[in-house]
Amino acid sequence: MDSYINLNHISTEELKHVDLNGVNVNCNPPDVEPQRQYYFMAKCRHIVKSESERLGRPLYACIQVFGCQMNARDSEKLAGILREVGYELTENEDADFVIYNTCTVRDNANQRVYGRLGHLNSLKKKKKHMKIALCGCMMQEPSAVEKIKQSYRFVDLIFGTHNIYKFAELLVTMFESDRMVVDIWQETDQIVESLPVERKYPFKSGINIMFGCNNFCSYCIVPYVRGRERSRRPEEIIHEIEMLVSEGVVEVMLLGQNVNSYGRNLEESITFAQLLRQVEQIEGLKRIRFMTSHPKDLSDELIQVMKESKKICRHLHLPLQSGSTRILKAMNRRYTKEQYLVLVEKIRKEIPDLAITTDIIVGFPGEAPCDVDETIDVVRKVKYDNAFTFIYSKRTGTPAATMENQVPEAVVKEGFDRLLKVVQDTARERAGLLEGKTMDALVEEVNEQDASLVTGRLSNNTMVHFKGDASLIGQIVPVYLKECHGFYYLGEKDEKTF
Ligand code: 5AD
Ligand code: SF4
Repeated sequence: MDSYINLNHISTEELKHVDLNGVNVNCNPPDVEPQRQYYFMAKCRHIVKSESERLGRPLYACIQVFGCQMNARDSEKLAGILREVGYELTENEDADFVIYNTCTVRDNANQRVYGRLGHLNSLKKKKKHMKIALCGCMMQEPSAVEKIKQSYRFVDLIFGTHNIYKFAELLVTMFESDRMVVDIWQETDQIVESLPVERKYPFKSGINIMFGCNNFCSYCIVPYVRGRERSRRPEEIIHEIEMLVSEGVVEVMLLGQNVNSYGRNLEESITFAQLLRQVEQIEGLKRIRFMTSHPKDLSDELIQVMKESKKICRHLHLPLQSGSTRILKAMNRRYTKEQYLVLVEKIRKEIPDLAITTDIIVGFPGEAPCDVDETIDVVRKVKYDNAFTFIYSKRTGTPAATMENQVPEAVVKEGFDRLLKVVQDTARERAGLLEGKTMDALVEEVNEQDASLVTGRLSNNTMVHFKGDASLIGQIVPVYLKECHGFYYLGEKDEKTF
């Protein structure tokens, strides 16, 4: 007989230490979260174990991530649960269970998923027990789900962005069902804490500080697929970071669609700058990054906190989207070209060594070559360290999709090429500014091309390659930046200061 642990009555802290094999999965599932999910993890573990015994080998699961850092972090949560229920994780899609964590910000992300599903189908034909799951932003779009239900019937499980914490429960439903399981929620105000996470890197980690977005930029589908803005309570964030630091993490990336509006929906309101001050106090934490900042909400308080901080990295991602005030208005960005430039000037004056990167969209409805000229003008003035340039992609359901005067492809292409050239030229000017200096680098990996080198990341997000071995991974070491090669440096470990 199984020993009995009533998950309803134990705290989330205790939960992490419970031997899930001791959970009586014959009783009713608890109603409260995350206890309920631990119950389903225990149940799923039985299923995975018996399947593995039948095959006489471990079961393998593969998660493919499309899209942004949010999806990468969500995938670590999925991986944590898969590991907990007994799967081995692999990068090979020829696995027993394949999960695509999808993106839908631009249509090409959707097309990639459809293309690769065909390949998965051929793998599944050879391996009948194989399971396939789709989740993430694309699944929040009814038209995409409808298409999968019609044309990709071999998919076993579909879920969205709001119920990812229920993955263990969904897995059990999938195993117990012989039909496609679809569970998509339109919204949620729930944030479930304390579920297992399997981190990709032992020394750095993303942390969600908020979910969703309230900005409704007129081209963007994110508010529709990720829902309204919800901030996590600062105590939860600090506690999670402290736990990570105790496990060896030295760098955190605070994640949110618009971190500058962090805390607005909390009962005890708090600003992002105040949160940063608290994070800074965490002993053992060496570096703090964050992403993404909306220019309209970037406060003087934040600039001050960044300036005074010893830990906040010298990098700010500040999406411009367009340099034309007319287009910015149609995009519902709520700042003008001049306001953006004044903001950058203020930041540069306070923190001269800060690297600034951006996102730019070309081909928004109604954009004329003179609007692209305005964008190019901003790029020349700001001199971004890097700019991600995107061709506008029409997203059904967004206000921009129904705007008249969509721009012809050839005109978009011409504007895009013109912009790209200026972006590259100015970024080249910025690169190399640190040549001859010694800077701290967090060593991330052994270089893929040359195993005698390791690759580290500077505070300003630039990469440096230098002689070293795997023992340096996760350490912050001073590196003399000898030569700049395009967008990275070749350096030497500075033995004097290390
Ligand atoms: N088309 C092209 N690019 C887009 N982005 C968001 N929505 C779209 C779209 N419909 C870009 C923005 C954003 C980045 C993450 O993706 O530049 O900052
Ligand atoms: Fe999309 Fe704008 Fe929200 Fe960024 S701020 S996620 S671009 S709606």
